[in-house]
Amino acid sequence: MSVPMILRHRDIPDLDQLAVYREFGGFEAFRKVVATLKPGDVIQQVKDSGLRGRGGAGFPTGMKWSFCPNDLWPHYVVANADESEPGTFKDREILESNPFQFLEGLMIAAYAVQANVAYIYLRGEFWQIGLQLDKKIAELEQAGLLGDNLLNSGYNLRLHTHMGAGAYICGEETALLESLEGFLGQPRLRPPFPAIAGLYASPTVINNVETLANLPPILLNGPAWYRDFGTDKSPGMKIFCLSGCINSPGNYELPLGTTFRDLIYEYGGGIPEGRAVKGIMAAGASSYVIPVDEQVLDTPMDYESLVKLGASLGSASVIVLDETVNMAWLAHKTTDFFKHESCGKCTPCREGTYWMAHIYKRIETGKANPEDIDLLNSVARQIQNKCMCALGEFSIQPVLSTIQTFRTDYLKRIERRETMVEGRES
Ligand SMILES: Cc1cc2nc3c(=O)[nH]c(=O)nc-3n(C[C@H](O)[C@H](O)[C@H](O)COP(=O)(O)O)c2cc1C
Ligand code: SF4
Repeated sequence: MSVPMILRHRDIPDLDQLAVYREFGGFEAFRKVVATLKPGDVIQQVKDSGLRGRGGAGFPTGMKWSFCPNDLWPHYVVANADESEPGTFKDREILESNPFQFLEGLMIAAYAVQANVAYIYLRGEFWQIGLQLDKKIAELEQAGLLGDNLLNSGYNLRLHTHMGAGAYICGEETALLESLEGFLGQPRLRPPFPAIAGLYASPTVINNVETLANLPPILLNGPAWYRDFGTDKSPGMKIFCLSGCINSPGNYELPLGTTFRDLIYEYGGGIPEGRAVKGIMAAGASSYVIPVDEQVLDTPMDYESLVKLGASLGSASVIVLDETVNMAWLAHKTTDFFKHESCGKCTPCREGTYWMAHIYKRIETGKANPEDIDLLNSVARQIQNKCMCALGEFSIQPVLSTIQTFRTDYLKRIERRETMVEGRES
């Protein structure tokens, strides 16, 4: 079963206008929550829905909220609108085209943990979205949906936007908090986790834009309704960002558990010139590259099934790689990205990404020999499990997986047995 829960603007023109959003049920969920539910009941309903965070880790949202202690105040909620993973472009569509559903979700999250202030942290490139959101927030204040004593409940809430300055690492929640506080965006050591000591050392909930946009339909229709979509352990709809070697790239909102085959061939229109799929990255640049055969194409895209393939769903940024893509070239590109974005705080990531990029450069310029593949593998292994945050771990996924499965692509590049046009074998 498939209904648009978030990308509703594709069927409803002008949904980014407050009057239109309200005409189609907007803020009914927030009204219901504030007027009829206690904060703990909201948390319970979100727990019952099985909603899992859409920012990458898939952590259960209601459970995360319940970690905020009730004897430490104030509480904060922060919306993570940094969206920097290469291949991810879903939050941008939500923020641009259905912004009130996101804002309503943020307001519901704030009420659930009784935060009176919530922040929206946007990547620097989203400055136009930031300006638009400021206007929408002002409209909500005028309409009495934000401010003091909302709906005569005694509950007060204010929202603020905050622009990042273009660093991928600031999507990592603790680096985001550092940046929001005005410091250099570098991750914090954990524990303590943000739910205990987050923004200004206060209990803080951080949620992804898509996670928050799921909340109004859940609270309006109930957890059981939500569980009709998706799978038992990965309930609900998910926006899959489809890109790479594909005829119709774009955002597709489908039930979790939809197969790669359906996404690529039914929705994405297949591969240009009918070429075969060679590999799939399911979580953007941070992905383990899955070698594709018929069985893999029939894998359901949910959190558990991807782990069984040795991969992860992440933010569901599905990059399709066809038979013409050289995987050594691909891993060189992702490594350059992670080297550039490493914040430098810990040595294995800072030095390791530098050395991996250096070896890839040798391969690409014809100065490497086959032993360099093992050297690359060894550098990646020295990064593994030794970093302060997940960026280091992300950086080695394409490296280790392509060396393991596509070694011949490396040898072709080293032995100059092919000429390359932007990664394609000719
Ligand atoms: C290097 C790195 C970059 C990240 N970038 C983002 C991002 O752009 N947006 C996002 O929502 N989460 C990102 N995350 C995940 C966040 O740390 C955090 O888990 C997420 O915002 C929690 O929200 P959720 O529970 O709703 O998924 C990133 C994590 C890492 C390690
Ligand atoms: S793993 Fe990389 S990005 Fe993360 S803290 Fe260490 S140096 Fe910074």
